[in-house]
Amino acid sequence: MITSYFPKFVVGFAFFVLSVSALDTFIAAVYEHAVILPNRTETPVSKDEALVLMNKNIDVLEKAVKLAATQGAHIIVTPEDGIYGWVFTRETIYPYLEDIPDPEVNWIPCRDPQRFGHAPVQERLSCLAKDNSIYVVANIGDKKPCNASDPQCPRDGRYQYNTDVVFDSEGRLVARYHKYNLFAPEVQFDFPKASELVTFDTPFGKLGVFTCFDIFSHDPAVVVVDELQVDSVLLPTAWYNTLPLLSAVPFHSAWAKALRVNLLAANTHNTTMHMTGSGIYAPEAVKVYHYDMETESGQLMLSELKSRPRREPTYPEAVDWRAYASSIEPFLSEQSEFQGMIYFDKFTFTELKKNRGNYTVCQKDLCCHLTYQMSEKRSDEAFVLGAFDGLHVVEGQYYLQICTLLKCQTTDLGTCGEPVGSAFTTFEEFSLSGTFGTSYVFPQLVLSGSQLAPERHYEVSRDGRLRNRSGAPLPVLVTALYGRVFEKDPPRLGQGPGKLQCSPSEHFQD
Ligand SMILES: *[C@@H]1O[C@H](CO)[C@@H](O)[C@H](O)[C@H]1NC(C)=O
Ligand SMILES: *[C@@H]1O[C@H](CO)[C@@H](O)[C@H](O)[C@H]1NC(C)=O
Ligand SMILES: *[C@@H]1O[C@H](CO)[C@@H](O)[C@H](O)[C@H]1NC(C)=O
Ligand SMILES: *[C@@H]1O[C@H](CO)[C@@H](O)[C@H](O)[C@H]1NC(C)=O
Repeated sequence: MITSYFPKFVVGFAFFVLSVSALDTFIAAVYEHAVILPNRTETPVSKDEALVLMNKNIDVLEKAVKLAATQGAHIIVTPEDGIYGWVFTRETIYPYLEDIPDPEVNWIPCRDPQRFGHAPVQERLSCLAKDNSIYVVANIGDKKPCNASDPQCPRDGRYQYNTDVVFDSEGRLVARYHKYNLFAPEVQFDFPKASELVTFDTPFGKLGVFTCFDIFSHDPAVVVVDELQVDSVLLPTAWYNTLPLLSAVPFHSAWAKALRVNLLAANTHNTTMHMTGSGIYAPEAVKVYHYDMETESGQLMLSELKSRPRREPTYPEAVDWRAYASSIEPFLSEQSEFQGMIYFDKFTFTELKKNRGNYTVCQKDLCCHLTYQMSEKRSDEAFVLGAFDGLHVVEGQYYLQICTLLKCQTTDLGTCGEPVGSAFTTFEEFSLSGTFGTSYVFPQLVLSGSQLAPERHYEVSRDGRLRNRSGAPLPVLVTALYGRVFEKDPPRLGQGPGKLQCSPSEHFQD
């Protein structure tokens, strides 16, 4: 059964008349889908068998699309790998692929299904969009033949791409995006020779689309937002949560805040693979999100968004991430520092030993400052302030600068950076800042129970401090300023950078 979560304040808009003229606001929907996986095979199944499996998934997506449309949604985003899953070789994915034309051909598959050969999946997605008058965003596989005239042509004579498609409310194919930042074991797919910058105009603003860990990149993610100035980003994803810093909801919502753009993120749902966490995020606030490690069900979410947030008086001002931190002297204390790992990166930590204080911890060029006050310093919980300034090198290389305050798994300081779910310590006050050498810093604050802190409880000041604001004591689990220093990333080699969080393969199954 599909249930939907729709905040009460937008229900009143559910029945307004659709029109082709510009809309000031629109209703966005994302669907977290528990993908029905094919059975593992060594040899490819037939095209018919592949289609039976894909149709089972589309049957579920269809219910979500219809429900979203009846609630007034203008667009629905469905997840990466949402139609056939992720466990494939190059050969076994092949029967699932369709030739997806460049949208400039102006094609409504629902009207003219045979125009580009057999394309039953595109036909069905197009009809879903057309029949329900809603934009439909899905992730499917594209195949493109090549031959020896292209020296990079794979030996089997074809490129296979992980592809996002968008059909408009008349069923027309309006966007096609080939994923650039593939996950290393995503061996079934090729990445395009250059990063594609895919945007399109709608009555509810200019939209951009890319996939999963592309969000960690400069190309296409930052380019689409900062240079092409889209209003909303569509993100099909199959995001494998890694605590404490790379969980889908905190990371995606922080990215939307930092880039000051709407983000519609639809994750695949599979708790065994730690894949859950979808949401609708505006530049100034999280609108709705879903995180569920308890059940294997899908979930539809809807929310109203501003079509062109940059034009709104509420549009947040840019943050100068180092302004405050570089204006003060480092806090001196008799603190002792130690090293600890978070997700393969060696942080410099210092423990918060008292119920209040001022701490600075530095690594290379980055100094992180923390001023805090706890309600009580508990003896059964340990918190640390940590700094990391370096190149992440496991399964992909990307340069990070991170300041974080987090709860250690136990009072053994060797566990700092390990996943942890709850905290009893509450902070009445905290202010975290760092001397960042980048303007791309993603601010996250996660409370006990893996809950995202509501905006009313904290703020990011223009001078780059992430701090509490309500005075209410907060059970902080982890808070971080997560910086990406794109200009220090090593050059991209022939292989894709390879990413850990997306499209997990068997490699990550215990
Ligand atoms: C997988 O195999 C089982 C047992 O042969 C069968 O019952 C099931 O329908 C298959 N699932 C799919 C998706 O083909
Ligand atoms: C090789 O591929 C190119 C580009 O796709 C195409 O124009 C050409 O006809 C192909 N040649 C052969 C021999 O198939
Ligand atoms: C989740 O994914 C794993 C690994 O691919 C798979 O074995 C399992 O059956 C999936 N769970 C569900 C409920 O589909
Ligand atoms: C922390 O520093 C501020 C000034 O930056 C000072 O007012 C405050 O007393 C200090 N707190 C502690 C516990 O040292």
